[in-house]
Amino acid sequence: MIIDVIVGARPNFMKVAALFSIADEFPSLTLRLIHTGQHYDEAMSGVFLKELGLPKPVFNLGVGSSSHATQTAQIMIGYEEWVSKNRPDVCLVVGDVNSTVACALVAAKMQILVAHVEAGLRSFDRTMPEELNRIVTDSLSDLLFVNEPSGVKNLMKEGVKSSKVHLVGNVMIDTLFSQLVKAKKKTKYVELGLESGQYAFVTFHRPSNVDNSEIFLEIVNQLLWLSNVMPVVFSVHPRTKNQLQNTGLYEVLETSQSIHLTGPLSYTDALSMTANAKVVITDSGGLQEETSVLYVPCLTLRDNTERPITIEEGTNTLIASDWALFRKKIEEIEEGIYLSETSDIQLWDGAAAKRILTVLEAI
Ligand code: UD1
Repeated sequence: MIIDVIVGARPNFMKVAALFSIADEFPSLTLRLIHTGQHYDEAMSGVFLKELGLPKPVFNLGVGSSSHATQTAQIMIGYEEWVSKNRPDVCLVVGDVNSTVACALVAAKMQILVAHVEAGLRSFDRTMPEELNRIVTDSLSDLLFVNEPSGVKNLMKEGVKSSKVHLVGNVMIDTLFSQLVKAKKKTKYVELGLESGQYAFVTFHRPSNVDNSEIFLEIVNQLLWLSNVMPVVFSVHPRTKNQLQNTGLYEVLETSQSIHLTGPLSYTDALSMTANAKVVITDSGGLQEETSVLYVPCLTLRDNTERPITIEEGTNTLIASDWALFRKKIEEIEEGIYLSETSDIQLWDGAAAKRILTVLEAI
């Protein structure tokens, strides 16, 4: 069985790495890595392929950055051409980026089975491009692999047949466990003159936080406040960097003694930075999950999450733009009383990829 495994944007690589790392155990399955080129910088793509031991993609569509419609359409055109000459049995997509929905739509129209890893997650916020991608991808999918029980509930409510839905756990956490030893040897925080457990690790890039200048300015102000409480490491995504430069705020942050700006980090550098942080401040979906597994407090700069288990059983708190709550949570973290009781999340045990390939092997 030939399975096209689609990657495009940064959060996709660590998810598919878990599948490739155990593919040898499933000799009847041939996994082909297809890269759409949605992300293309070494720091956003190449470094992850190398660090995670992923094979060289058999095909790179090279679409690059553009508007949503243009990018999605270009991925569809490129992938349709590939599929018409190299038809797979299954198209496996992960997450919720434009590459996910574009390839799922091409495959479904060509009557190729679509498998969606990280299915069923819903923020119920249709202003997020990712939410639209999730809804469309799930409605096109034949096999829906789900991370957490809320995903199963959401799919049942939407009328998806239960035989299509498989609660398998979280492939990104598989990769986290397998890379943790390597990540523990990384000491970027030491190079910055910081101690483990003493700094805040910050990263945000959602259009809702970055593209709205009022909200953006407020977040930057809060980070400046935070830098008086503890040192801050801010890993700046390209979208965020553009906005910081356009607003002149990059220089303001750069001159602060206790704010350390870095570009996008490699997987193990980011994992090390997260595992050693006192608190993570983010709008990333993946980091809400990773901090929960690492027992690191996470303050999320959003008013919803498609990953509610990270609040119920993990270390996550939604801050939205409630800055009084933000400061209260920072105080609790300083006092060591923040969410001290967390439990291990069911099926986030390092074996999700095995469950997925076992299902695929049997179809
Ligand atoms: C995309 C995903 C988002 C994911 C994020 C992770 C969609 C709809 N959004 O958002 O879900 O959380 O990736 O990073 O798919 N750029 C570079 N180099 C690159 C890629 C992008 O400099 O390699 C710059 C370009 O200026 C581009 C901007 O970043 O316009 C945004 O990139 P884009 O892929 O459009 O969206 P992200 O915000 O990264």
